Amino acid sequence: MANTDNKFKTVISHAKEYGYVFSSSEIYDGLGAVYDYGPNGVQLKKNIKDYWWKSMLQLHQNIVGLDASILMNPKTWKASGHIDAFNDPLIDNKDSKKRYRADVLVEDYAESRRQKAKKEIKRAKKRFGDDFDEAQFVSTNKRVIRYNQEADEALERLGKYLEAEDLDAVKNLIIELGISCPVSGSKNWADVKQFNLMFATKLGADSASALDLYLRPETAQGIFVNFLNVQNTSRMSIPFGIAQIGKAFRNEIVARQFVFRQREFEQMEMQFFVKPGEELKWFKHWKEIREKWYNTLGFVHEEDYRFKPHDKMPHYANAAEDIEFNYPFGIRELEGIHSRTDYDLKAHEEFSGKKMRVHDAETGENYIPYVIETSVGVDRLFLAIFSKALEEEDLGDGKSRTVLKLPSILAPTKVAVFPLVKRDGLPEIAKEIIEDLQWGFKVLYDDKDAVGRRYRRQDAAGTPFCVTVDYETKDDQSVTIRYRDSMEQKRVKIADLKALIAEELSFKNWATKA
Ligand code: GAP
Repeated sequence: MANTDNKFKTVISHAKEYGYVFSSSEIYDGLGAVYDYGPNGVQLKKNIKDYWWKSMLQLHQNIVGLDASILMNPKTWKASGHIDAFNDPLIDNKDSKKRYRADVLVEDYAESRRQKAKKEIKRAKKRFGDDFDEAQFVSTNKRVIRYNQEADEALERLGKYLEAEDLDAVKNLIIELGISCPVSGSKNWADVKQFNLMFATKLGADSASALDLYLRPETAQGIFVNFLNVQNTSRMSIPFGIAQIGKAFRNEIVARQFVFRQREFEQMEMQFFVKPGEELKWFKHWKEIREKWYNTLGFVHEEDYRFKPHDKMPHYANAAEDIEFNYPFGIRELEGIHSRTDYDLKAHEEFSGKKMRVHDAETGENYIPYVIETSVGVDRLFLAIFSKALEEEDLGDGKSRTVLKLPSILAPTKVAVFPLVKRDGLPEIAKEIIEDLQWGFKVLYDDKDAVGRRYRRQDAAGTPFCVTVDYETKDDQSVTIRYRDSMEQKRVKIADLKALIAEELSFKNWATKA
């Protein structure tokens, strides 16, 4: 996996080959930016959602769950600001007739500058060997300083112009930076225009009276409109949170980057309701919790992810940061953490005429709570975990193996059980083991090909443990367990197998990893 482009292609083809992700309606040539999850993909996705759900609800007694509908009364979207302001700035190239997100063109430009800086650093590292002082080089090398400055300045100006909704300035910035159409190379740009991302649909059979609806573009509003229902029925008092996992839809213009940017995707969102004035303390608290959560999955700060304050503050927030992940195609947003103030509840109070307040027993006053939101796309997290896990590992002597080092708690299949050969009673013992293990874990049986090839198949599919039944098993009731990541093999009693695997997959062990 020599370069990032190749790595990304390898990720996409591996995801297809091993039944993780397929193009939607592929026999009809697919549908842009819409994907289906295959047998392994759906299981990995489910395990990711379970891990998040348990971490939110089981480990916080003041967080409860919700499953709101995708279709909502359209007044919801007027109140939330999505009808008026859920737009992307688009720009057409007059020669190629291709349409782009103006902000993404500038972000890609900034990323290309940073990549140039990285190349300089890599070259210098090679030249100076062990004596290389990277921090000093980055702060003194003229070319590196210039590339990083160009990236910073472009993003800063973009943020400023978007904040001021100055679309002419965004177009001028694209021209000034010399950005050309990625397809044709032309710099002949039309004006930047706003484009609403919501999918519209109709409710009702009679076209004259049918109600215009939208597919929800985020799950959060389902939480806000249910705020009082949930609070009253679950007897929660501030601070408390409501968590939800569900589909969201956006008519995205930039339809590339695999499952990273889709038109139909899933979000895991948690809205945490706090006292006004305390929101920034809670914002910091949730940033820390979410960072620790990613660390439990093996994500390394700076190497895999970083925190990034928003270039443009969303209209509803007084603090907003993204957790950005180092994807094979560049560093991009994985999760947003937002201090949403009382923007949403206040707007719903105004538009619905219903009070969205809680009672403060100390002051005797009723007030609208402030909200901290953590919002991560399941598909983006799936891609982050999958691409980090996929390795072409050098085994020496010109040998290598493809291995998908998924965190074992998330792996689709936990254990593969093999009889060494297909005779002499070994398959029967393997099946007995499966019958026992299947009550606790997703297991599979495989008796095709040599055991070495079966190991390689499971390595590539991401299965963390393989168990082999051999002739000695008959005498000593022991089997060989082989670990995917270390390839270590050890002999264990069949009777101890379940407890050993349960310990490896224990939620407590994973969720408390430093
Ligand atoms: N409720 C806040 C909200 O929706 P957002 O930053 O627009 O904020 C939150 O979206 C998360 O949803 C993002 O960080 C990303 O992980 C995911 N997401 C957004 N658009 C997406 C898309 N088109 N495809 C896949 N995931 C997406």
